[in-house]
Amino acid sequence: MSQNPGHQTVVVLGTQWGDEGKGKIVDLLAAQADIVVRYQGGHNAGHTLIVNGEKLVLHLVPSGILQPNARNLIGNGVVISPAALKKELDELEGRGIETRGRLGIAPNCAAIMPYHEALDRVREAARGSKAIGTTGRGIGPAYEDKIARRGLCLGDLLDGHRLQEKLEPVMDYHNFVLTRYFQDKALDISRVRDEALQLGAYLESYLTDVTDELHLARADGRKILFEGAQGTLLDIDHGTYPFVTSSNTTVGGACTGSGIAPCDIDYVLGITKAYTTRVGSGPFPTELHDDIGQHIGERGKEFGATTGRSRRCGWLDAIALARAVKLNGVTGLCVTKLDVLDQLAEVKICTGYSMDGQPIEGYPSDRDKWSDIQPRYETLPGWQQDTRGIKSREELPDNAQVYLARMEELIGAPIHILSTGPERDEGTVLVNPFG
Ligand code: GDP
Ligand code: IMO
Ligand code: MG
Repeated sequence: MSQNPGHQTVVVLGTQWGDEGKGKIVDLLAAQADIVVRYQGGHNAGHTLIVNGEKLVLHLVPSGILQPNARNLIGNGVVISPAALKKELDELEGRGIETRGRLGIAPNCAAIMPYHEALDRVREAARGSKAIGTTGRGIGPAYEDKIARRGLCLGDLLDGHRLQEKLEPVMDYHNFVLTRYFQDKALDISRVRDEALQLGAYLESYLTDVTDELHLARADGRKILFEGAQGTLLDIDHGTYPFVTSSNTTVGGACTGSGIAPCDIDYVLGITKAYTTRVGSGPFPTELHDDIGQHIGERGKEFGATTGRSRRCGWLDAIALARAVKLNGVTGLCVTKLDVLDQLAEVKICTGYSMDGQPIEGYPSDRDKWSDIQPRYETLPGWQQDTRGIKSREELPDNAQVYLARMEELIGAPIHILSTGPERDEGTVLVNPFG
């Protein structure tokens, strides 16, 4: 393994439409980290960790929680459903995983309240065939309230008077929308308030100044790992809008969502599957509707870790990935799920797009054009050998090595980590992001 000189802060993020295997890789790298931080998204995320055959799916708690020496933080950019967080913490406790004293949460995290979930649900239903296919967790409505400057944060749930004062006008407004616009049920303010106060009391001891902790840790030379949620193509600004999530999943989110500065980021690890998946609606140029797509879905067990929905599957898209590398300043790539392609006779990579039968340059800047583009492919021979759990790049079959080398060339970033199985120890770190 070659070494990078002393990287102290590493950001791990998805370069596709999510579910690239961020959780597995964060868990692996967290063995070297002092702190692991989530900075955007909410419990729409589902990050799977498999250690010694035991599976754990995390939604809000950072994927450093299984590494006993890591402190886990949730930064201000995360939207938190107090009820969902309590459920997750209870589940962890039930499995003997201690979180008190090991998890800190920013009090200014926007709160996802029951009316956000109700709004998400009725809006999606009203969109009919144009639905985004959200996770139904209230993510969009909660971020909207935050940006509209009427949202509540976790700190507001600690004091009955303060909560009442902020909740009343917000709930009046949302109940009006729910009942008058969507003809749905109103939510009871006193019930929402009482539940929120109970949850606030439960969460109070977790609250901490996350930004301050991060700056102190950085000054002390400690190692910090930032855990992204979702993926680059779901970014609210740079993704396939409107079929995106409501946060910045690209690298800037690590700064705004935690309070560290861009110059404090030493290394960005961009995670990509060896192919592409997407869950929910929206354009997906390399999507496969044939037996190969089905084979990838079955072999890759491509079902959403949060909603259980089938993930759509397709070939690797080097154009979208090259864009993701630039948008995030990716230092190194981590390729996951190479083993899923093991049985295929040939594999394809999208190396360009066409529109109206004509090749186009790069990535369409007009987002409405995404649904009109057709992929242009390069076909490579498959390897048809088992790659599961290999421990070096040289151990791979020749054609798998050719595939990875071509990926690097087309995407414009080197592969630093390779994953060929869901278990923590299945795969290999070629270049250690922390050095
Ligand atoms: P995340 O949201 O990016 O953390 O990814 P998910 O956990 O939602 O989805 C990734 C899925 O792929 C999980 O079921 C992982 O256990 C699994 N996985 C991760 N890496 C590999 C790999 O290299 N090979 C295989 N076969 N499965 C993997
Ligand atoms: P992780 O962190 C994959 C998708 C939803 C939907 C769109 C908007 O596990 O990679 P939202 O509920 O966020 O308003 O839904 O975003 N989506 C994800 N897809 N992985 C995720 O997270 C996702 N989180 C949201 O399916 O298309
Ligand atoms: Mg996931």
